[in-house]
Amino acid sequence: MTFGITMLVVFLALIGFAAVADDINPPSGLQQIDPTKVAKTPPFDRPGLRKLPDGSYEAYYVAQVFTFTPSTMTVPVGSKVTFYVTSADVVHGFFIPRTAINMMAIPGWVNEQAHTFTKQGNYLVICHEYCGIGHQDMFAKIVVR
Ligand code: CUA
Repeated sequence: MTFGITMLVVFLALIGFAAVADDINPPSGLQQIDPTKVAKTPPFDRPGLRKLPDGSYEAYYVAQVFTFTPSTMTVPVGSKVTFYVTSADVVHGFFIPRTAINMMAIPGWVNEQAHTFTKQGNYLVICHEYCGIGHQDMFAKIVVR
């Protein structure tokens, strides 16, 4: 029993030390944000779609129990969209089936992933990380036309 508890403490200490020493962060988490001030921090104070001069798009999403903002957006077929996602409360998922977009929405971090929509249709954005009693109703829609 003592040996088991000692090893548990040693392993947890090693994991904690390695995370700090190696500066381990969420994958693709390049930017940090104050999770208590998401609604006041640009560009997340105005979530949504931005068109860039090269014709591509940036999409800023805020995840919050149990919604994504924006709830719907429309882009032309062929558009490259870079998604920037953060959470204003707890850990959520950000998954778009039929694409490679699969991220976590983590309070305090902005995660980023891009996709080019080559097919028309309606795409769902799904929270695939259990976040509370309304988790199964947490989704958004992307219309590609
Ligand atoms: Cu948000 Cu599950």
